[in-house]
Amino acid sequence: MNDILNIALPKGRLGEKVYTLFEKAGYPCPEIRETNRKLVFENPEAAVRYFWVKPSDVAIYVARGAADIGVAGKDILMEYEPDVYELLDLGIGKCSMIVAAAEDFSDDLQKTLRVATKFTEIARGYYASIGREIELIPLNGSIELAPIVGLSDVIVDITETGATLRENRLRIIDEVAPLSARLIANKAAFRFRQETIREIMESISTQTGETR
Ligand code: PRP
Repeated sequence: MNDILNIALPKGRLGEKVYTLFEKAGYPCPEIRETNRKLVFENPEAAVRYFWVKPSDVAIYVARGAADIGVAGKDILMEYEPDVYELLDLGIGKCSMIVAAAEDFSDDLQKTLRVATKFTEIARGYYASIGREIELIPLNGSIELAPIVGLSDVIVDITETGATLRENRLRIIDEVAPLSARLIANKAAFRFRQETIREIMESISTQTGETR
């Protein structure tokens, strides 16, 4: 029987911090720090296999059972509503989903608001909740450019340090939601591997509790 636990880690900014949490929780895989192109790492003694996954894809691997557990941003969970369990707020990767506009923007309620974003479902939900009619302009990146060159009136995007907004002379109009990294689990895996997954959760929540 293969009782190895498959864990999808978000590659990039957050990845190293997330791996350190798992390492300290008692699931080390030292090789993971030694190379930077390899994507799969296994430690049979600790019964874990880690994958480096593009952050926005972690939930897909977990929902489909290719990974038993993983770490995904709250932004992705809100946008795609994947069929997974959200187990724990890891308290890292903290940032905000915000609405921002050019410094001289003033909202004309007579007009449909043009909203540029990568997060179309979050933007749709937010404006529906305040009853504002919008036109969505889906983009894939560099969202801050849209209001500067007149492609949109506002953006719905993530801000962490605020540097990108500042350097592009945009101001925050509203916060849609605070965001952070979440531990997620495949629903069937959570049922069948509950003991192992709960052990990881408990050990990680002790650590994140200490750092908060
Ligand atoms: C994200 C986000 C902002 C930036 C915010 O972009 O979309 O552009 O980070 O960070 P800051 O508040 O610390 O400046 P990302 O780097 O993921 O690239 P993107 O332009 O492809 O969305």
